Amino acid sequence: MQRRTSQSYAVYLLFLAVILPLSAAGTTVKVRELELRDRMSSVVGLVSQPQVREHPIPHVVESGGCHALIVDGAPFLILGAQANNSSDWPATLPKVWPAIEYLHANTLEIPVYWEQFEPKPGQFDYSEVDTVLAQAREHHIHLVLLWFGTWKNGGQHYMPEWMKLEPERYSHVTNKSGELVDSPSPFAKASLDADIHAFTTFMRHLKEVDLERTVLMVQVENETGTWGTLRDYSASAEKLFEAPVPVEVLKAMNKAPGVGSANWQDVFGPEADVYFHAWAIARYVGQVAAAGKAVYPLPLYVNAALRDPLKPEMPGTYESGGPTDNVIPIWKVEAPAIDILAPDIYLLDTPAYLKVLELYHRPDNTLFIPETSGSPLASRFLFAALGLQDIGYSPFGLDYTRLHSAQPVERNTQDAFLDPTAQNYKLIGPMMRDIALLNFEGKLQAVAEVENEPTQTLHFGSWDAVVSFGGGRRGGQAKGNPEPTGRALVAQLKDNQFLVTGFDCRVDFRPAGTEQQQKDQPVVNGSGQTPSAKIGGQWQHRQFLRVEEGVYEKDEFKFQRILNGDQTDWGLNFGSDPEVLRVSVATY
Ligand code: DGJ
Repeated sequence: MQRRTSQSYAVYLLFLAVILPLSAAGTTVKVRELELRDRMSSVVGLVSQPQVREHPIPHVVESGGCHALIVDGAPFLILGAQANNSSDWPATLPKVWPAIEYLHANTLEIPVYWEQFEPKPGQFDYSEVDTVLAQAREHHIHLVLLWFGTWKNGGQHYMPEWMKLEPERYSHVTNKSGELVDSPSPFAKASLDADIHAFTTFMRHLKEVDLERTVLMVQVENETGTWGTLRDYSASAEKLFEAPVPVEVLKAMNKAPGVGSANWQDVFGPEADVYFHAWAIARYVGQVAAAGKAVYPLPLYVNAALRDPLKPEMPGTYESGGPTDNVIPIWKVEAPAIDILAPDIYLLDTPAYLKVLELYHRPDNTLFIPETSGSPLASRFLFAALGLQDIGYSPFGLDYTRLHSAQPVERNTQDAFLDPTAQNYKLIGPMMRDIALLNFEGKLQAVAEVENEPTQTLHFGSWDAVVSFGGGRRGGQAKGNPEPTGRALVAQLKDNQFLVTGFDCRVDFRPAGTEQQQKDQPVVNGSGQTPSAKIGGQWQHRQFLRVEEGVYEKDEFKFQRILNGDQTDWGLNFGSDPEVLRVSVATY
C-alpha cells in the first residue's frame, strides 16, 4: 500500500479545491477539463484511502463532435436494462437483480415514484431510494434513476394522492371542448413548485448518500407530453398562445424575428399547437431540472415517445409537446439544464430505427437510448448506435416480474426473452471502457445488418473495412443472413491495426490508398485471392500480418492465440459466440 506523503496530500487538497468546484459548474464540459481531471485522478489514485472514496461526479463531454459519459475519469458505456414500471419495491427487487446478472448489464434503470417519495406534502420517504442504492452496490451495478414526477407517459399518474385529490390546484390540460384530460397542465404553478421541491429534495439526498456515484444519471419525468389533445386550451394558456412567440423560440426554429405581434399560429401554422405545447412543457421541465442540477450536477436527460421518423406525421398522431425530433431546438433552448434528449425506440423497421439514431445524434445532443425493444431483431441496433457514439443502451422491461398477466412466468421462457441482450452484453461488457474511449476519440465505427444490403463498407484512412452478412464461413457470396441479425464493430488502433468484433458477419480489409492517392485518381476495387484495389495504377493486395484472438479481462485485451489458415483465409468470420480480434494488415 502506498504511504500518504505530504506531497500526495497537497495533490489531494488541490483536487478538492480546484477540480471538484469545476465539475459542479455543469455536467457538459469540454475536453480540456476532462484531460485535467484524468491527469489529476491518476495522481490522486496514488493516495490510498481506506474509507469510501468520493468519486468524481459523472458528466457528459463533447469534443469535435464526439461524445462520452465520463465515469471515474474515463469514458463509460451504459449497458443497461430498464425494469418494469412497478418493480422498484422491496417485494419485487429480488426479481430484478437475477435478470440484470443474467444479462451481464452494468446499469439498471429503475423509477423513483413521486407518490412513494412524498406521501404527504413536504414529508419525504427515502426508504425506496436507499434500498435500491444499497442493493445496486451489493450487486456492483450502476443505476440510472427515473424521476416519475409530473409526467409519466403523458399522464399525471405518479403525482401523490394529495395532489390527485386537488385537481383544481394541480390542474390538468383542458382540451378544445373545455374538458379536463388525463395529462398535467404545464401552466400549473402549484404542480411546478411541488415538483421542484420534491425533485430537489431527491437530488439533495442522492448527493449526500451517493459519494460512490452508483447513480450515473437521472431521467427527469417520463415521456412528457399529452395524448388526445394538442395542447392546453385553458384561458391562461389561450392568452399565451395569442401572445408573440418568444424571441429565443423564433431563433431556435430559424424564424425571422416576429413582425409586430406575430403569435404562435401566425408563425408556425399547422404546427403551432405542438410547438406551443413543447415550449410550455420544456420550460416547466427545464425549471425542475435546473433546480435539481443546482443541488447536485449529475447528468440529466428526458426521454421521448417518438413520432414517425421517416414520414412527418400530422400533429395529433403522436404525443404532443414531448421532445420529438421536430421540437428538439425548442427543448434545447428552454431546458438547458437537460443534457440529453433521448429517444425511446420501439420501432423494429430498420430504416426507421436508423433514422431515429441519426435524428438524436447531433453536435448538441449526445446519443443515449434509455428504452428500446429487447427482441432478437432489435438487439443488433446496439451496434448501429455505437457507430454514432452512443453512451448507453437499455432495453425495456427486462426483469422477472410479469408485465402482462399473459406473459409466461417460467424462468426459461423469460431467459429466451433476455438472451439477445445478454449475448451483446457478454461480448461488449468486458471491453466497454475501450469502446467508449475509442468512440470518444472518433476511431470506432459499428453497423447493424440492413435488409437487402449484404455488404457495408467502413472507411478508415488508407483502409476500408468491408463487413458482409450471410456469406458462410468459407468465402461464399454474401447474401444477407436469413434474418437480419448481423452486427459488427471495427476500431482503428494504429494506422494498420484494428480491433474487430461482431456477430453473424464477416469482416475483411481492403487497401483504400492515401488521401492524396484517392484525390489523384479514382481507386478501383478488385477481387482475387484477397481483397485488393488498383491505386495510382498499381494493384495492392491485403495481407494479414497477424490476427490475434483474445479476451477482455478487466478492461484489457489478453492475447490467447494467433488465427491463421482456415480461420482467416476467407476473411474474419463471426458467429454467435463472443469473439474479439486484434488485426494487423499490410499490402503487397
Ligand atoms: C414507454 C414508457 O416510457 C415506459 O415507462 C413504459 O410504459 C413503456 N413505454 C412500455 O410499456
